[in-house]
Amino acid sequence: MKYFLPLTDPILEMVDISVKLSGLQILDSVSIGVPQGTVTGLIGPNGAGKTTVFNVISGFITADSGYLKVDGKKQKHVQPHHLTKKGIARTLQGVGLFPTMSALENVMIGGSSQVRSGIIAQALAMPWTDVEQNRLRAQSMAVLGELNIADAANRLPGELPYPIQKRVALARALVSDPQVLLLDEPAGGISAADISELADLIRSWVPKRTVLLVEHHMELVMEVCDLIWVLDAGKVIAAGTPDEVRRNPAVLAAYLGEDGAT
Ligand SMILES: Nc1ncnc2c1ncn2[C@@H]1O[C@H](COP(=O)(O)OP(=O)(O)O)[C@@H](O)[C@H]1O
Ligand SMILES: [Mg+2]
Repeated sequence: MKYFLPLTDPILEMVDISVKLSGLQILDSVSIGVPQGTVTGLIGPNGAGKTTVFNVISGFITADSGYLKVDGKKQKHVQPHHLTKKGIARTLQGVGLFPTMSALENVMIGGSSQVRSGIIAQALAMPWTDVEQNRLRAQSMAVLGELNIADAANRLPGELPYPIQKRVALARALVSDPQVLLLDEPAGGISAADISELADLIRSWVPKRTVLLVEHHMELVMEVCDLIWVLDAGKVIAAGTPDEVRRNPAVLAAYLGEDGAT
């Protein structure tokens, strides 16, 4: 079954994307759209294919068929290192920080493609390298400050409590000032109070930024999303407003027996 929503102004679209991994059909002709300036949810039971959707959007996995549209432009394949240039940033499920780098250095990595100089210029000791590095360092500190974790800047991820690590990962995605932010289970493993703060934070970004939110925590999804897509076993089974999705029998059936859905 196909779902056609009256999507106005989608900044990101996935059209008929199919992915097979190790002989298994992981995504089966998935079409979803993310209207500009919204928080759009992507939910579904464990193993539904949500992270795979993010991996296709960010170019870690090449789809067998179908295509993406970013800002109305068809893309056959987005290279992961070109993602920031296209105004897209993502967080990883879990935290995915580099363990031997400080929180600040981890955040700087998220903005490093902004630094024109890059590795070659650094190797050649170009005079403006330091200036740009300093600018990136200042931007990264500013984002850590906005997320109230400036005091974690010089600590290694392993020295920080898990919810702070999650914020560092968020800061790394935010430092490139993305138009589109892909968040993979940002509420995973954090407390109810932290989730409530996260909800306020996510809503504070729109409509300047657009958010595609993969999340297992239903209360957060229902509270912050304007529109929700539901994936089950690699197929879109429902789409609509939080109220429509909540009442949809197919969605309830997909979640039956799921422990994680709260
Ligand atoms: N590299 C891979 N090779 C084979 N199967 C994979 C691979 N990556 C993910 N899968 C499978 O694809 C399905 C969807 O995974 P994933 O996108 O991580 O789901 P979700 O994020 O919705 O929990 C799962 O059944 C998972 O085991
Ligand atoms: Mg996942």
